[in-house]
Amino acid sequence: MPVSILMVCLGNICRSPLAEGIMRSKLSEDFVVDSAGTGGWHAGELPDKRSITTAKSKGIDITNQRARQFKIADFTTFDYIFVMDNSNYKDVIALAPNEEAKSKVKLILNELFPNENVDVPDPYYGGQEGFENVYNMLDQACEEIAKKLKF
Ligand code: 4NP
Repeated sequence: MPVSILMVCLGNICRSPLAEGIMRSKLSEDFVVDSAGTGGWHAGELPDKRSITTAKSKGIDITNQRARQFKIADFTTFDYIFVMDNSNYKDVIALAPNEEAKSKVKLILNELFPNENVDVPDPYYGGQEGFENVYNMLDQACEEIAKKLKF
């Protein structure tokens, strides 16, 4: 079974699509990478234009992605579930059916700043620079994750 990673935010249109695209760019095709939102309002939509533009400027195409809502089955499908902020953490943990499921859920920036529980800020209501900031944080965090997974 390939190692599988799920990136989770609120809407699955701003942060987690960037995280999915960045993570995939750092791993071989042997890994499964996906993303989801705790909310379902944007299900079926493309990533936010500002996420698409930011990713494109770094050579990453995320226009193949469509938003979907996180589901309970994701706890069994995925080995690692990285959430973007403390609110996502609370929402996903509340759905976990058992301790094994809970243990798969990690705040993504704890890969860079262990135990500090730092949020990836929601860039939805800001400008393009917020998306650049999110991209840079996620790029560093995904680099750490890739290093660990490749040993
Ligand atoms: P995301 O950003 O969680 O990074 O995808 C958001 C996108 C949409 C909304 C909130 C956050 N919204 O309220 O529609």
